[in-house]
Amino acid sequence: MLLTQEQQEILNGSRGETMAKVMETLVRYGELYDADAMIPVTGKYNHLVTSFGLKALTPVYELMDQLIAEGAVSGTKFSADPRPLDKNVPSSFLQNIIFNHFMYSKQDFYEDQLQKLGLMEKDAFTCTCYMDEVGNTPGKGDILSWSESSAVVYANSVLAARCNRNSGIIDLMGAICGFVPRFGLLTDEGRKAKWIVEVRTTKKPEAQLLGSAIGMKVMEDVPYIKGLDKWLGSLDDDAKAYLKDMGAATASNGAVGLYHVAGITPEAVEQGEDLILPDAQVYVIDDAELKRVYDSYPVIWKNKEATPKLCFMGCPHMSLHQLIDWTERVEQGLKAAGNKKVVIPTVFTAAPAVIEKFNATPYAARLKETGVILSYICPLMYMNNPLSAKMPVITSSNKLRTYTSARYYTDDEILAQITKGGN
Ligand code: F3S
Repeated sequence: MLLTQEQQEILNGSRGETMAKVMETLVRYGELYDADAMIPVTGKYNHLVTSFGLKALTPVYELMDQLIAEGAVSGTKFSADPRPLDKNVPSSFLQNIIFNHFMYSKQDFYEDQLQKLGLMEKDAFTCTCYMDEVGNTPGKGDILSWSESSAVVYANSVLAARCNRNSGIIDLMGAICGFVPRFGLLTDEGRKAKWIVEVRTTKKPEAQLLGSAIGMKVMEDVPYIKGLDKWLGSLDDDAKAYLKDMGAATASNGAVGLYHVAGITPEAVEQGEDLILPDAQVYVIDDAELKRVYDSYPVIWKNKEATPKLCFMGCPHMSLHQLIDWTERVEQGLKAAGNKKVVIPTVFTAAPAVIEKFNATPYAARLKETGVILSYICPLMYMNNPLSAKMPVITSSNKLRTYTSARYYTDDEILAQITKGGN
């Protein structure tokens, strides 16, 4: 791999032994993928996913302590993935013991470390760091060192920044060192599509289902999606939220790091079908294919007929626009069902900065009136333990469905379940 004089000097210890090890790790990681060079991280901010305050990840805290002690802190400030705990989210006595004393007992310590390492601001905890309210929105062509898969795929696809799907620790090292190895999605060639996805549905496809179908088919390859512009129109707030949810499903049900949408995403608008590799395979998605995908999801609840105890919406975190839209939908659903409050405890999750903005609108009181709880947590962190796993939880997130026992329903089905019960 070609190293600049500066990079070679760092490797030789010009910025201390720890930074030399960080650089060596990145160089070796790059060599595994035939990277040709180390290139500067150019995004204004980084985004980290390290440990969520998990007690089990002691080596990560030790590594971070070492980095702080030796002054090897990020020159660039960063946001981080969501906090795991919020007392407003319903939980049992036993769950609270597990969350507070076993799973996330290091959260305060972890947040203190992040402050020292360069957290953007004290509440910069969200997976949707790219939202305007949060302010970590990379520009076109920015080189990033991120690892949150839903944020990476959004930054690459919707913002045309450049980032590989890194592990959390490689992400941290790239952010600290300020360089990342160039391969894969950082190269023009790596951003070309190996798949053409033709959307031929009779109505706007459910974002989470479409993303799931694409992810399971193309896995880690880049798809070029045709026929979706008909349903999205332009890259407005609605379309951005749609692509956020679709992308998270492509990234979790498969391992997609970048997709292009004809007529919508920046590179597809600029380069059109030049982005498609000559031998690209074709995947047609129609109503029947989406139904097939939906029907293929296993329901791993012990009692498949159980009444849901909790509903999570907002994985990835909801946008301001989605919160407003869903406030109206829940109100209308309740009115039609003759109910005043949601009949299943329901939690909407969003970035702290988005919640703050939402709370300044009249919709906040209206949502509260419906009984829906608004939180900043990561629902996956709530679900990821044996007690929560036994709960019948429903969600409209295909990412949450994939990683936990939560059961997936479409948006309309979720609305019916929480406003009148059943679907
Ligand atoms: Fe975000 Fe947690 Fe879902 S980080 S994408 S809310 S799993």
